[in-house]
Parts: sequence; structure tokens; C-alpha cells
Amino acid sequence: MDRSIMRETTKDFVKYYNPKLNGELRLDTNTNPLGSNPAAEKYLKEASWNLNGYPNTYSDGLRSSLADLYGLDIDNIIAGNGSDELLDVTFKTFTNAGDKSVFPVPSYVLYDYFVKLNGGVSAEVDLTDDYQLDVDAMLRQDAKVIIMPSPNNPTGNCFRTKDIEEILSKSKGIVVVDEAYGEYAKDSFIRRVEEFDNLVVLRTLSKAYAMAALRIGYAATNKSLADMMISVKIPYSVNTISEGAAIAALKDQEFIRKSVELVNEQRPKLDAELRKLGFETFHSDSNFILARSPIDHTELVSGLKTRGVLIRDFGSKRRTMNCVRITVGTEEDNRFLLDKAAEVISGCR
Ligand SMILES: Cc1ncc(COP(=O)(O)O)c(C=O)c1O
Repeated sequence: MDRSIMRETTKDFVKYYNPKLNGELRLDTNTNPLGSNPAAEKYLKEASWNLNGYPNTYSDGLRSSLADLYGLDIDNIIAGNGSDELLDVTFKTFTNAGDKSVFPVPSYVLYDYFVKLNGGVSAEVDLTDDYQLDVDAMLRQDAKVIIMPSPNNPTGNCFRTKDIEEILSKSKGIVVVDEAYGEYAKDSFIRRVEEFDNLVVLRTLSKAYAMAALRIGYAATNKSLADMMISVKIPYSVNTISEGAAIAALKDQEFIRKSVELVNEQRPKLDAELRKLGFETFHSDSNFILARSPIDHTELVSGLKTRGVLIRDFGSKRRTMNCVRITVGTEEDNRFLLDKAAEVISGCR
């Protein structure tokens, strides 16, 4: 059957990134190279659950732990099945069919998907040449929702705090600061949600917390917006097992400190070695580096895959031509990647 049977607003959708895996080193998803979160793993080994009972409707235990961590109130927090669920909830809560939402280009590829999934219209505004926000151009869109990741994916850099503050004060819409990589950055808006009437901050346990498999994300916002969002969110969307593991993981802040330290140590080394191989690298405040390849990006990515390393290809997209995104790994991971990249590059010359 042809796709005309589909809903008008989703009939052009294509499947998301879903590589066939064969034991490769994964430097393509910006997860934590130290492996599974140890406190979450310990919890999973030792705990038992009543599988016959529903989870707590809105994950109150997890929300309470998050509130304690950030000096917020439980009513400032919404927990979800990955921060992707909270993206969906944001557009479901605040946009009507046909409403405009604005995000920068390049940024997280799924924003466009979630806007359209909810019947909205995407307005894309290019970042400036140094990958910062074009504040005036974003505000001119007069959008219902303005959304941006900081640190930005795929460029890796943080946006200037004063630019985000200007957007917050001048926009009549909801402003979402997606801090999926917030643990790696110096600045954050998460403790400031009660300062603004229109700020939503998104976070995830998929990256620094090393538990992407369990799908936990959360939003922090003022109590009034949080009440709207939580009443739209699907009840029980966070399962009991993931919630328990997340609460355990939040208690082990030493693991997060170690994980951030590893990235701070390894990122400049990886950056310097990539430059020696002929890559142009871009400034990162996160656990990955965007780099322009010295050879054709498709040859680099497929050559690395054949040699056992996955990195993410952004090379066919307008503002990241011939670029790839590489997760910062352990010293050993990075050495393996660099050796294999050197092989692929010399084979092409
Ligand atoms: C900027 C950004 N936002 C949100 C997400 C979604 O994360 P989660 O695993 O919590 O759904 C990602 C994942 O890559 C991301 O890069």
C-alpha cells in the first residue's frame, strides 16, 4: 500500500539510525566509555520487584531524588522514558496543530521529528559561523516553542548563557534548554527554573550516567509548567526497574565526577591526535568531538566500521559537510580509533 494512507504530517518520516552491529567499539552514541553505571548494575543484581504491580504513576521516588540533587521541589520535575519522551511531552503540552517551533541548525536531529509528530511546523535557524545562536533570527520566528541543546549535538559546544537569557526574556513562547550533556558543561540552567516563567530544562541518564538501556530522562521547570506537562505525559511510562536503578545511580555522584574527569583528560588528547591526522576539529564542551574528515566522510565511516569502530556520519548535512561526530572514549578506545583512522586515511591517499 502506498504511504498516502498515513497521516499527512508523518507520511514523509523515515526510520531512525539503526546500525547493524557486529561487536564494534561504539563511538557513535555519546554514551559513557566506562560502561554500565555501577550503582545501577548493583541495584539490578540485588533488588527484586513485584512485577504484578504498576510503577508509581509519575515516578515520585525518582522525582524526589532529582529534586534533592538540584535543590528543587518534586513539583518542579517530570520523569520520562528517556529525555525523548519529555521532548514529545513538551510539544504535546504547548503546541497546537500548525504552531511553529524553532530550533538551530545543526542541532539534535529528532527535534524536527517530535515537532511534526505533534502536528507542528519546524522553523530552522542556522547557527552563526562559530556555531553560536543567532538570537535575533530565532526570536523573529515568534515561535510557540524555542528549543536548543546546550552543549549542542552535534557541534559539541555550549551556547552563551547571555544569549539563552536574552531568548528567555524576549520570547513569548516556551524555551527548552536540552542539557542532555549538561554534566560535562560548566554552566547549566537547571537550578534556575523558578527564575523564569517560560524555561524547561531537559536532562537524561543516557549519557554521563551510563544507563541509556534503561531509558530515563527528566524535565525541570517551574511548578506551573510542570503541572501542565505532567498531566499530559503518559502515566506509568517509566517502569519500576528503571526507576529504582536511576535512584541508585543518582546517589553515586563519584561515578559522575570520574566520568567527567575522564572526558576532560581525554578530549584534548583526542582532539590533538585527530588534527595530526588532518581532521579539522571544532571546540567541544561535551563528551564528543565534531571533526571534518581529511578524506571523504563515507569512506572514513565505512572504513572504520569494517575495522571495528562506529562513529556518526554528519557529512552529507549542509552545515557539517564532510564532518563526523566521535564520542570521547577511554585512552585505549581513542588509540584504537586513531590507529584505524590512520589506516583508512592512508589507504585512501
Ligand atoms: C541533545 C540530545 N537530546 C536528547 C537526547 C535523547 O536522549 P535520551 O536517551 O534521554 O532519550 C539525545 C540523545 O542522543 C541528545 O543528543
